[in-house]
Amino acid sequence: MPQIERPKTIVTRKLPAQVEARMAELFDAEFNADDTPMSEDALKNAVARADVLVPTLTDDISKDVLASAGPQLRLIANFGVGVDHIDLAAARARDIPVTNTPGVLTEDTADMVMGLIISVPRRLAEGEKFVRAGKWRGWAPTGMLGHRVNGKKLGIVGMGRIGQAIARRASGFGIAIDYHNRHRLPEAVEQTLGATWRENLDDMLADIDILSINCPYTAETHHLLNEKRLGLLGRDVYVINAARGEIINEEALTDALEKGAIAGAGLDVYENEPDIGERLLALENVVLLPHLGSATFEGREAMGDKVIANIRIWADGHRPPDQVLE
Ligand code: DGY
Repeated sequence: MPQIERPKTIVTRKLPAQVEARMAELFDAEFNADDTPMSEDALKNAVARADVLVPTLTDDISKDVLASAGPQLRLIANFGVGVDHIDLAAARARDIPVTNTPGVLTEDTADMVMGLIISVPRRLAEGEKFVRAGKWRGWAPTGMLGHRVNGKKLGIVGMGRIGQAIARRASGFGIAIDYHNRHRLPEAVEQTLGATWRENLDDMLADIDILSINCPYTAETHHLLNEKRLGLLGRDVYVINAARGEIINEEALTDALEKGAIAGAGLDVYENEPDIGERLLALENVVLLPHLGSATFEGREAMGDKVIANIRIWADGHRPPDQVLE
């Protein structure tokens, strides 16, 4: 592990002002003042010069980009928890550790998912647009009815920190929790959360009212929710995704929504961000958010603090605490 006084640190996107100020104090830091995502060439130029690269999920840190890295590039300190935009194998092959920012965005993301879990079945976003469009003519016994969430069953795919934080919130709304995860949680944790493990994902899909996707995006979870699995969901089921768009086959999801094969969806992430298909944009039974999961002042500052801590500990010659590669 190196010991570097003021590592040359290139940050690919604009970060909260306090975070940038602290980085400028501690590191030989270079920022992206106009905040446009860096081109592939700009990323190649950055890895050729930096000791530490601080990318975010909008940067494709591919094998090709890493091939331009100079021998001085010794750390990738990602601003964010998901690292699916970084070719981890290529980083490992070059012996470059990658760190992320787990823990500090859990509660904010879970709050937002809970917002979608309420807002989609109860048609809150649709109602708001209705009022603003001047269409509301007053209360009516059959006006804009949605589905009750109390007493329903939520299926959570991916029961890590965020999945568990959603389960805690949903229980408070009287929602039953099933979950599918590679590894079963300890029984005591299951009991505290009131959550039931479903080893077989397909069985769980056929038996829930709301589905929340909260697993990481990897080669194994690519299009985990495909046409066949969407077909297992009932007509009254709502799909919520605040993890990564690529976990759901968006075309197949759009087909299912258009046909009324499922009731609706709440999406914070998409397969080709920021592009969203015209067909999806045209649907009433979806709430579409612009990847807001961790978007709080507090959360983004805490993410920055984590990035700084990882760089400082690494620069002092120690293993950074949030290293994602062995
Ligand atoms: C992450 O950190 O990976 C999130 O998607 C950002 O909100």
